[in-house]
Amino acid sequence: MVKLMLALDVMDKNKALEIVKETSEYIDAIKIGYPLVLATDLKIVKEIKELSNKEIICDFKVADIPSTNEKIAKLTLQYADGIICHGFVGEDSVKAIQNIAKENNKKVIMVTEMSHPGAVMFMQPIANELAKLAKKLGVDGVVAPSTRPERLKEIKEIVGEISIISPGIGAQGGDLEKVLRILSNDDYIIVGRSIYNSESPKESAKMYKEKLKNNF
Ligand code: XMP
Repeated sequence: MVKLMLALDVMDKNKALEIVKETSEYIDAIKIGYPLVLATDLKIVKEIKELSNKEIICDFKVADIPSTNEKIAKLTLQYADGIICHGFVGEDSVKAIQNIAKENNKKVIMVTEMSHPGAVMFMQPIANELAKLAKKLGVDGVVAPSTRPERLKEIKEIVGEISIISPGIGAQGGDLEKVLRILSNDDYIIVGRSIYNSESPKESAKMYKEKLKNNF
């Protein structure tokens, strides 16, 4: 079954913990990014890991020189199971994160083409090259857009067995039915606002989980 990753981009600690408790029955993984970490602190990652016992991925889209990437990865992977980085900064920057991840048995997930409209300006033209780099480096996952199923398909064909983590379902308008025809069992869809902003995050997470179970 395709897995459900909750993007927990709320900016209030208690709300975040409440949503995790409410939805944990239906989600497979939690993505924590800058909004929640900057509103609280990095230890929120540890707290959510302990509370949920789910896979926790930090979406820090790390994009710096190798020595700085290494520091960011060390701090993040004390608590998180994986970290998202950019590949456009080059092979050495990604490898620096992979070295830290390997020592700690954690995941590195690389962005290829982003899901928002602006990604067609600069990222789309290089996204296939980024996907090839991800494959060459043997990263543990790539991020590819649910908002453009034709691009998702192309990127999946390039990365082959590498797991895909795909944002864009829900608030960004991605077509889940089309996306599920492309994704396979070890892949994930990421859903944020349409779960955490809904009247009942629990019911919304349940609805997505059921769609994934029924392959729609
Ligand atoms: P929504 O609220 O749109 O949240 O369901 C989507 C989540 O995914 C993040 N996002 C991305 N992360 N590459 C990434 O690494 C992308 O292309 C991308 N597009 C969206 C977004 O920050 C939010 O957490």
